Amino acid sequence: MMLTEEAPFAALRKTWQPVALAADLPAGRVLGYTLLDCELVVARFPDGKLLAADVACPHKGARLSAGRLCDGDLMCPYHGWRFDAAGSCRNIPSLVAPNPEKLALSHLRTYRVQERYGMIWVKLDSSGAHELPDVPEFETADWTYRLGPPMAFRAGFRREIENYLDMTHFAFAHATTLGQAADPRIPPMDISIKPDGFQMDAPFPALNSPHEQPGKLQSAHHRRQRCYLPNFTTIRQSFPDGDERVLVHIPSPNTRETCTVFWSLAISPDFRGPAPEDQIAFAVKVLDEDRQMCELQLPAEVPINPARGGWGVLVTPGDTLANTFQKTFRQWLSQVLQPAT
Ligand code: FES
Ligand SMILES: [Fe+2]
Repeated sequence: MMLTEEAPFAALRKTWQPVALAADLPAGRVLGYTLLDCELVVARFPDGKLLAADVACPHKGARLSAGRLCDGDLMCPYHGWRFDAAGSCRNIPSLVAPNPEKLALSHLRTYRVQERYGMIWVKLDSSGAHELPDVPEFETADWTYRLGPPMAFRAGFRREIENYLDMTHFAFAHATTLGQAADPRIPPMDISIKPDGFQMDAPFPALNSPHEQPGKLQSAHHRRQRCYLPNFTTIRQSFPDGDERVLVHIPSPNTRETCTVFWSLAISPDFRGPAPEDQIAFAVKVLDEDRQMCELQLPAEVPINPARGGWGVLVTPGDTLANTFQKTFRQWLSQVLQPAT
């Protein structure tokens, strides 16, 4: 079946996507973010309420992301119109007398917004039944949970997902970091399809190498990758001594050819290895190497239909997991976009 290149964004509008770290949006802060080609203003009001809305002011289109919170309302920087956390226009300073009809017409177009896992999430199309996957390790007090700095990629979100699922690039793209002890030969992968995505189990292809640093940054481990469609992918690393690390990547699409990777990690209790800050610093280096590889690829996004330079045409066993993503993602698209009966 041929799908159009518009299908992925139409479907992702029905899902929760991260737009900011919660720590970057304290009470009183206003931010801008482009999600799925839609420019948003995101704000946390002094009472803690969150707002996500189209960025353009209903008056003359000024970007409300350049506004500020003033006496408990979001104020447009241009003519000072004020909006509450529900998007209602509360004040038009140029009107001598309040005009309820004008105020009612001036409502912002708002979207569902929530905070979880230390991130702010927006769902553009509220008709979607999508909920965030539960990752207990991210919310369990005895695990150490850390958020990484979101990283902008000049590449489509599916390029980033393929990269995260790919174990054959370690020895090359991460030659000085993750790949110092990596075996480029692909280990046997055990892939199973789940109702909400898929799972892969494999040993991390590490060699016994004098380059291998102590401390579980690049040590051999069992690897379980779990993709919750469309774009929430976790890796559980289980080390021989029983310590574990769970990572998540969510490439939040900005435009067709750009995304922002939100990511975090959780470390099992009494982890015998580097401090959490050192693990984050190492992961930032690795992610930046991945960014460079994703930005080298043409076209900037994986075509939705099989194509050379994309997926499904020139494949090796190492590409099986990326192909599993593309195939299950297409099935997911068909389900999400099918007309309601
Ligand atoms: S453009 Fe926002 S108040 Fe005029
Ligand atoms: Fe990588």
